[in-house]
Formats: sequence, C-alpha cells, structure tokens
Amino acid sequence: MSMTKNIAPEDYRKFKGFLEKACGITLGEGKQYLIVSRLTKLLRNEGVSSVSELLTAIELGQPQYLRDFVIDAMTTNETSWFRDRSPFEALATDVFPLWDKEKKRQCKIWSAACSSGQEPYTISIALSEYKAITTVTTLNSASIIATDISASMLQEAKQAEYDENIVGRGISSKRKQQFFKQNGGRWIVADDIRKRVSFKEQNLLSSYDSLGKFDIIFCRNVLIYFAAERKTDILNRMARALNPGGFLFLGASETVMGYSDAFEMKRSASGVYYRLKD
Ligand SMILES: C[S@@+](CC[C@H](N)C(=O)[O-])C[C@H]1O[C@@H](n2cnc3c(N)ncnc32)[C@H](O)[C@@H]1O
Repeated sequence: MSMTKNIAPEDYRKFKGFLEKACGITLGEGKQYLIVSRLTKLLRNEGVSSVSELLTAIELGQPQYLRDFVIDAMTTNETSWFRDRSPFEALATDVFPLWDKEKKRQCKIWSAACSSGQEPYTISIALSEYKAITTVTTLNSASIIATDISASMLQEAKQAEYDENIVGRGISSKRKQQFFKQNGGRWIVADDIRKRVSFKEQNLLSSYDSLGKFDIIFCRNVLIYFAAERKTDILNRMARALNPGGFLFLGASETVMGYSDAFEMKRSASGVYYRLKD
C-alpha cells in the first residue's frame, strides 16, 4: 500500500479526528508512519487503496467490521503479568489488609483496559496469594470485571491460554505450577483464578453506568494515549464509579495530577496508588 507513505495532510487530519473520537487515542504530528505500519496489511486485504477511501468505507459501514479492525490495529495491546510489580505488591501490603480492616462486603474490582487478560488474571492471582496467608478475609468473594474496547483482545483474554514465552513475561516457575495447567506447549489459567474474572466490551469514552460501582479500579497504560481533556473526563467518571474510599491504580508513567482532584495520592513501599477523597 504505497499510497499511505504519502498521506495527504487533510487525510491525516481527518484520520486523527476519526481515531480520537472513536477511542480517545491522539496521534501526534508526523505519525503518518504509524498508519502505514499498522494498517498496510489490513487495507491490502480489504482492497482499500487510500486513507480517504478508508474513511469513506468506515463512514458508510462497508464493510461493517472495518471500523473495529482499524481501531484494533491502531491501539497498543502490550501487556504482561505483574506488570511493573508495584501495583500488585501494593495490593498485598496495603490495599487488601486495609480492605479487611475497614470493609465487610464483597469487593468489586475493575480492570479497565485489560488487553489479553494478563492484568485481571494477575489481580486474581494476587487475591489467591493473599487469601493463602490470611486467616480471615472478606476478599474470598471478590470479583473482577475486565473490559476493553477490542473484541479480539477480549476473545483472547477469555480463552485464558498462553504460549510459554507469554507466560514467561512475569510469571515465575513457582506461580506457573501453582496457577496454571499445562496443555502441550500452552499454559491455561487455573479455574479458581479464572472464575473470579468476567469480561465485557467497554469503550472508556462511553458511560460506565451499566458496570455498577467498584472498590478498586485498574486503569493502566491506556490514558497515556489520550488528550488531557479525555484524561480529566475519564478520571472524574471513574471517581464516580468508585464506592467511598475506593482505590485507583494507574500505569507507571500516568498520574491524576493536573487532571482530577477527586483522588489523593498514597505511597506504598514499592510505588504510588490513589484513593478517592472523602
Ligand atoms: C497497552 S494496553 C494496557 C493493558 C493493561 N492495562 C496493562 O497495563 O498491561 C492498552 C489497552 O487499552 C485498550 N484501549 C485503547 N483505547 C481504549 C478505549 N477507548 N476504551 C477501552 N479500551 C481501550 C486497547 O485495546 C489495549 O488493550
């Protein structure tokens, strides 16, 4: 698809506008190469020969799936188990014990851009590990809702089956034996880890009302792609989706500072997380 190498400025502007409105992702100036590298194969398969042709096809819904395929191709799905370690250490050392001290009801957790499932399953493993060292905990019945904009990522996540090299990105051999079952060269997440997690398609730009209220939200490594006003909107709506005293975890290079004043910053031994202000 040689034409995308010469995307007309007007087509680039329109494509940026489409992407921002559809999923919040802002392409900076001079990122035409991202369109080329991520869409060339898709456009070739669809017989679409220019960005303006692509935008027209999306607008007409011909074919219907094109819009989702383009969003899928333009989003970054990079993830891993126990990513950055510190959020999961903070759950074990700070948040879960505090929860047990303060609360007496079911804990609801939201993994808000779950990609291929490593984040929600890691939270579930952290819950099992916490249960194993705690005699009395109300976290036995904790549940995790994992959402993403991408239907194909959710499909992978639900399958809960990973290659050796993918499991190797963050899972120790001890955890592998404990929390996975082996099936040839694949590793399947154990039933007791899976059963806490349910999956749902959710665009972070849309209303969260149908999801209900949460006690802990993980929204990691996705806000980084959004413009400031989107971050503010999402963080304030997440604050409203949290029960009083609820917790928020962001990615290592993300912050609420300058975007929302609904949260106070908390420091654990290993890093930073946020708590809803009273
Ligand atoms: C880099 S991954 C982060 C995965 C995981 N949270 C982590 O930290 O490892 C970003 C995910 O955000 C999803 N995403 C992008 N835009 C979104 C939107 N508007 N609504 C919901 N999910 C979105 C992508 O599909 C992708 O799976």
